[in-house]
Amino acid sequence: MPGKFENKKIVIAGGSTGVGFATAGLLHEAGAQIIITGRSEEKLQAAKTALPGISTVSLDSNNRQELDNFFKVTGHFDHLVVCLSGGKGAGDFASLPLDDLRTGFEGKFWPQLNTFQAAIPYINKSGSVTLITAASATMKAPGTSGLAAINGSLESMLPSIAKELKPLRVNAVSPGVIDTGWWDFLAPEEKAKTFEYYKTITPLERIGQPEDVADTIHFLMGNPNITGMIIRCDGGLAL
Ligand SMILES: NC(=O)c1ccc[n+]([C@@H]2O[C@H](COP(=O)([O-])OP(=O)(O)OC[C@H]3O[C@@H](n4cnc5c(N)ncnc54)[C@H](OP(=O)(O)O)[C@@H]3O)[C@@H](O)[C@H]2O)c1
Repeated sequence: MPGKFENKKIVIAGGSTGVGFATAGLLHEAGAQIIITGRSEEKLQAAKTALPGISTVSLDSNNRQELDNFFKVTGHFDHLVVCLSGGKGAGDFASLPLDDLRTGFEGKFWPQLNTFQAAIPYINKSGSVTLITAASATMKAPGTSGLAAINGSLESMLPSIAKELKPLRVNAVSPGVIDTGWWDFLAPEEKAKTFEYYKTITPLERIGQPEDVADTIHFLMGNPNITGMIIRCDGGLAL
């Protein structure tokens, strides 16, 4: 019997590295036809070398014209996963440069919405959309108010959108600290120290792996009875 994702057409926006790339690998193995996007040709090429069966498209998800052209050429498809991310917006509120927060919204909130909205005419109603938000949306930790704004905005829009687009299923996965290149803005020793710290405040005492998040995305995409849901995959960080 063919599996749930056999021959399904799946677009992973921000699929060249980290969580998106792990998701591409999992779903490719499940027999799906995978198209990943990203800006850097180099990262896309590295992804294609590791997974020769997938397709890659270079585009900037902040550019609506590029997105519209991409979806027009791609045509109808079954599932959309949106893993786009910037990185700015963290820091204590009193000293947070608001331009950093604006850049944070430009790096995650707007490209995720842009991608989702441009894709709507092309996603089969029996399929799904999965956004990737973050534990910062709900963890109420000092230094994360800006990230809470970016990710919380996506999370608070999601249930209404799920009702509007029914029977298309619309969900999100909210990761905690995950070991991806997202953290490479830190020097290696600083990154290791940061991960050690997060281990001490995470109930499951571990740093998440991109495969953990990919597994949660896979579950949400495949379950026909879940919509409007945000599932945390964070080791309990946001509890
Ligand atoms: N890692 C963590 O600890 C963590 C924690 C909580 C939430 N998350 C969330 O998980 C999701 C995946 O993050 P990750 O850790 O896997 O990060 P990542 O490895 O940096 O992946 C981000 C992906 O998005 C692409 N991208 C970013 N901006 C883009 C744009 N404007 N247009 C097209 N592609 C773009 C990147 O490729 P290019 O740079 O080449 O464009 C890359 O493929 C993000 O939403 C992130 O906020 C991560």
